[in-house]
Amino acid sequence: MAEQTRYTLSESEIPTSWVNLLPDLPGDPVPPLNPGTMAPAGPDDLTPIFPMGLILQEVSPEPEVEIPEEVREAYKLWRPSPLFRARRLERALDTPARIYYKYEGGSPPGSHKPNSAVAQAYENREAGIERLVTETGAGQWGSALALACSMFDLECLVYMVGASYDQKPYRRSMMEAWGASVIRSPSDTTDAGRAQAEHTTGSLGIAISEAVEVAAQDERTNYALGSVLNHVCLHQTVIGQETIAQMEMAGDEPDVVVGCVGGGSNFAGLAFPYVRRVLRGEKQMRFVAAEPAACPTLTRGAYRYDFGDTVGMTPLLPMYTLGHDFVPPPVHAGGLRYHGDSPILCGLVKAGVVEPRAYAQNETFEAAVRFAREEAILAAPEPAHAIRAVMDEAAGAREAGEERVILFGLCGHGNFDLSAYDAYLAGELEDPVFSERDMEDALARLPKAPAIG
Ligand SMILES: Cc1ncc(COP(=O)(O)O)c(C=O)c1O
Repeated sequence: MAEQTRYTLSESEIPTSWVNLLPDLPGDPVPPLNPGTMAPAGPDDLTPIFPMGLILQEVSPEPEVEIPEEVREAYKLWRPSPLFRARRLERALDTPARIYYKYEGGSPPGSHKPNSAVAQAYENREAGIERLVTETGAGQWGSALALACSMFDLECLVYMVGASYDQKPYRRSMMEAWGASVIRSPSDTTDAGRAQAEHTTGSLGIAISEAVEVAAQDERTNYALGSVLNHVCLHQTVIGQETIAQMEMAGDEPDVVVGCVGGGSNFAGLAFPYVRRVLRGEKQMRFVAAEPAACPTLTRGAYRYDFGDTVGMTPLLPMYTLGHDFVPPPVHAGGLRYHGDSPILCGLVKAGVVEPRAYAQNETFEAAVRFAREEAILAAPEPAHAIRAVMDEAAGAREAGEERVILFGLCGHGNFDLSAYDAYLAGELEDPVFSERDMEDALARLPKAPAIG
């Protein structure tokens, strides 16, 4: 029989609900805190910048949350996304492992990000909001929100991290083509930006501060976050639910699920539907989260309460953090340059359910180029980290003589990241060094808050 490479589903198989992991998490809930009172943050802390529909999703105790019909309609533009078996890569790596990847790069902006962007634009439009403001790192989230706003008739303003604004100019063009306005961050349009002007490369934390400031001051404007929060991870779980059905078609079950982590949303999207099965004792498998060695939040950060933004405008989130005002050195995986991570994912790392690994920039591009030469797709620099981890897993399977099934999230293409590929191919790509000292200094400036757990 011919070997199958691509596993596809029909439109009618787009999931009808999102998977909410909150009710299945082990241990006592660890709520976000109001930084003024240190009491658990409630809806009142969030209503100035988020619509009630999303706040209810953020704290929902229900294991499933229904996907609104208009959002499912929007998903039909790029969902269900394909699952591939990486047969050429398996042969090239000479591994007994079977490698599968779920590809989210076929969406119009080229990543998983619109899975949440359309859900957020929908809830804001329902609430009568006229404009969304956001941050973007590499430009994937900003592009996704620009698209979603054009689909749901909202204005869109994007603060783009300075280093990425300079590296990826055509991401700005894409956002503007969809009708958004784009400002390089740090900017002189906000107090937060002016206060951080010395950090010329910018950071996601600074861009978030700028966007939150704008949203908090304008009633017709809300803020949209591209990762980290529970409702963003929730929206992404269409990825894992489709994958479960596609892996069944392939007649395989993953032994290990791998994803890259910036704020945690694509990892959550692929892994959480599987994690739920593991937490319920129905299955056994490993989960590997790959992050940059230059911004090693999960592998080197402290598990503490911290702000989600640099200036300190958000509630305190329980997470691994490098410190809210730590400015990571510039890497091309701009979407992974964040000081914190999803509280749910951090709890799973703390509980030992998810294993984090950090990789240097050059080794991730080496893996991405090898992948492109075998599997054709040019990965974004972010999932290049997942590919590096997959290659290590495949080598591990060969050494152990094990038929390991490896599943990973190829969450975006790198067609706008060619300056990074150029630098790698010319041997000019740097491996920026993470400064333990800068992190220790930033951790010393964390807000005084109760220890977690
Ligand atoms: C392609 C891609 N992958 C991964 C990420 C990291 O974000 P998250 O961890 O929320 O998936 C980003 C963020 O911009 C991205 O654009």
